[in-house]
Amino acid sequence: MRSFLDFGASLLARLPAETAHDLTLALLGRAGPLLPRRLGDPPSLRVQALGLSFPNPVGLAAGFDKNAAVPAAMARLGFGFVECGTVTPRAQGGNPKPRLFRLRQDRAVINRMGFNNGGMEKAAANLARRGNSSNGIGGITGINIGANKDSVDRIADYRTAFVRLAPLADYVTVNISSPNTPGLRGLQNKDELGRLIGTVLEARGPARTPVLVKIAPDLDETALDEIAGVALMTGIDGLIVSNTTIARPPLQSAHYREAGGLSGAPLFGPSTAILRGMRRRVGNRLVLIGAGGIASGADAYAKIRAGASLVQLYTALVYEGPGLVTRIKSELAECLTRDGYESVAEAVGIDA
Ligand SMILES: Cc1cc2nc3c(=O)[nH]c(=O)nc-3n(C[C@H](O)[C@H](O)[C@H](O)COP(=O)(O)O)c2cc1C
Repeated sequence: MRSFLDFGASLLARLPAETAHDLTLALLGRAGPLLPRRLGDPPSLRVQALGLSFPNPVGLAAGFDKNAAVPAAMARLGFGFVECGTVTPRAQGGNPKPRLFRLRQDRAVINRMGFNNGGMEKAAANLARRGNSSNGIGGITGINIGANKDSVDRIADYRTAFVRLAPLADYVTVNISSPNTPGLRGLQNKDELGRLIGTVLEARGPARTPVLVKIAPDLDETALDEIAGVALMTGIDGLIVSNTTIARPPLQSAHYREAGGLSGAPLFGPSTAILRGMRRRVGNRLVLIGAGGIASGADAYAKIRAGASLVQLYTALVYEGPGLVTRIKSELAECLTRDGYESVAEAVGIDA
C-alpha cells in the first residue's frame, strides 16, 4: 500500500504544484478511510507533552490541510499528530495563482498562498465529524488560527477563531508568522503579542486547551528575547519554531526570485539555530515544536537535540511521498538507540 502511495506521489510530482496538492487532498478524502491502520510505533518514540500522549513526535505541519478535511487519513499515514489550518474566521480566496512553486534542485518550496481557506465554520464542521484522539481513531489534531486579510481588528479575529475551534481541537496554534498576510508578523512585537496572547488565554476558560504560538525564523536576538519573555510571562504552553522564511539563501532553482515564504532544505539550518536559541532562553518551561526542512530521521533528531519535544514537516512530503513518515520514524528510533537514549524526552535539548 505504501509503495503504491509513493508511486502515486511520483505521478503527482509531474503536475503543477497546487493542482497536485488539490488532487492529493481529494484522493485522501476518498481513500483515507481505506488506508490500513498504522502499525504501532516503537515505545522510544512516545512523547508526553501538552497534557497529551503522542504515539510518535513526527507531526504534519500547518498548510497541508487548511480546512481540516483529512486529519484522520494523515494520522493513518503514520504522523504522530496533525496540525490543520491556518483557519481564519471568514472564508477567503488567498492570493492570485500561481502562488506555490517547487524548487526541485533545492528540495524547497516557495509559497504565497495567503491563508486561502474555507473559514472557521467549514473547519468546525469537518472537525466535528472526526473521531477523537482519545479513542485513537482521529489521532491528535491541532488547529492553527489566523486573521482575515481585510480584518480591521486582527486580535478580535484570533479570539473569534479560538472560541469556535478550540473545543474541537487537541491544541491551538496562534499563527503570527505567515509572510503572506501583510502586517501579520507585526503581531510578534512585544506589546502586540502580549495583548494577543492575553486575549486568547482569557477566552480559553476552564477547558484549558493548550495554546502555542508559531514564530518566524527571521527574528533577531532582541525579538527572540522579547517573545520568550512574553511567552513565559503569559503562561502559554509552547512555541512552534518555525514558519517559512523571507530570506533567500543561495538557491539553484528557476523560481528562487518568487515572492513568498521559503521552506524545505534551505530552511533547516536557520530554523534549527533559532530553535536552539529559544531552548536556551526558555529551558523546559515551554514545549517547543521544531519545524523547517526536516527530511530524515537525522534531521528530526537534530531538532530534538536542539530543544524540540515534537517536530513537524511539510515540504519534504512533496518530494518524498508519504513513505517518508515511516522512514523518518525508524531512522529516529535508530538514532536514539545508537546514542543510548530510551526515549525522545532524554534527548530533548542536549545540544542547547
Ligand atoms: C504550501 C505551504 C503552505 C503553508 N501554509 C501554512 C499555513 O497556512 N499556516 C502555517 O502556520 N504555516 C504554513 N506553512 C508553513 C509550514 O507549516 C512549516 O512551518 C514550514 O513549511 C517549514 O516546514 P517544512 O520545511 O518542513 O515545510 C506552509 C508551508 C507550505 C510549504
